[in-house]
Amino acid sequence: MSLLLANVRPYGGELTDFVVDDGVIAKIGAAGRVDELLDAQGAVLLPGLVDLHTHLREPGREDAETVATGSAAAALGGYTAVFAMPNTDPAADSAGVVEQVHRLGQASGLVDVQPIGAVTVGRAGQQLAELGAMADSAARVRVFSDDGACVSDPALMRRALEYVKAFGGVIAQHAEDPRLTVGAQMNEGNVSGRLGLAGWPAVAEESIIARDVLLAAHVGSRLHVCHVSTAGSVELIRWAKSKGWAITAEVTPHHLLLTDECADGYDPVFKVNPPLRTQTDVDALRAGLADGTIDCVATDHAPHAVEDKETEWGAALPGMLGLQTALSIVIETMLVPGRLDWRGVAERMSVAPARIGGLAGHGRELEVGAPANLVLVDPDSRWTVSPAGLASRSRNTPFAGRSLPGRVVATLLRGRITARGGAVVGDAALEGAESDAAVSA
Ligand code: DOR
Ligand code: ZN
Repeated sequence: MSLLLANVRPYGGELTDFVVDDGVIAKIGAAGRVDELLDAQGAVLLPGLVDLHTHLREPGREDAETVATGSAAAALGGYTAVFAMPNTDPAADSAGVVEQVHRLGQASGLVDVQPIGAVTVGRAGQQLAELGAMADSAARVRVFSDDGACVSDPALMRRALEYVKAFGGVIAQHAEDPRLTVGAQMNEGNVSGRLGLAGWPAVAEESIIARDVLLAAHVGSRLHVCHVSTAGSVELIRWAKSKGWAITAEVTPHHLLLTDECADGYDPVFKVNPPLRTQTDVDALRAGLADGTIDCVATDHAPHAVEDKETEWGAALPGMLGLQTALSIVIETMLVPGRLDWRGVAERMSVAPARIGGLAGHGRELEVGAPANLVLVDPDSRWTVSPAGLASRSRNTPFAGRSLPGRVVATLLRGRITARGGAVVGDAALEGAESDAAVSA
């Protein structure tokens, strides 16, 4: 089946047409006969987004999210691939569990689900997990993380960095010194003092990043820093990169937009780990993402069931939904103010995360022969976030009621439309003839 994407603007540039055939970009410019037409009406065409940091909750908390519901949220958010964090129950610390998650992703068929393996057994931080077995499994794991927890033992972190070198893997660290964050509820600063909540100091993140960049340099291995949240972390990463060390880093949309002032009403929807920081930190994160110190945006999509989230602040679990709002927030915080252009958005949300995670078919240049993993975005239309309208099984978005720029017109996975006009397009819908009937152009 050939598909004509008519009137698209690749990276926001000049209007043109793309023909997609057999899962790849077959032609750019005037098309011949095609089976199906999608008139993009000037929408921006980008490579499909890639999320390095998604919590899909399956196995174990299917009441909060499943691979299928998280994949639907991802497709609607413009993603064609997501990396699934291993803090499931059981943890994804063995070939069996990562293969299960991988299979569930294939069954949903909406995005490529690439499992991340745990660094330590049960993510308990005591003993290395079977990293090689996960790498050799059908899930082909290349990224390892104990996310939600920090690999805090420096000797174990060193071993993990050494181990993954053999197969080109990377350790994605949740940088949080556990001793410095005992009982922590929010950013340590003026607001925590005013609210009487125990503080999570910036140094708890920065001290681990400082240690880990030195360890990665010492053993000549790759380190990826998850959800960077402080100005000091940006400085440390900038310094480590200036040495030529193989360090990469991500920032979340919520850390690009929100501050610890959001905690003022004690609404636990704003509780997240690492916590929302100060405007100074937000400004440094935006600058770091703009200049490439921070390589990419990753959602840290963290669905939580109502009983775990809509409770008093101290008892609520940390985390926020992210997959369906990420692109809009990057448009608002980075594109609209001119910190990134559309190429920059593609680089930070698709090219860089695909490269860091080793996904060859994603984050590719928009050129003939490349896999048709694509997203079409209407930058001019706005939408209002409604928790009940999101595809996730959970409702914990901190952006409820907010008007955001940029709508996903359509997402394509290997040439197949997975989302269109705000609705998921499953296999059944595909077989039932898409509304724009076959035409010749
Ligand atoms: O806020 C967070 N939620 N931070 C994490 O590191 C883990 C995540 C989760 O799994 O809920
Ligand atoms: Zn984390």
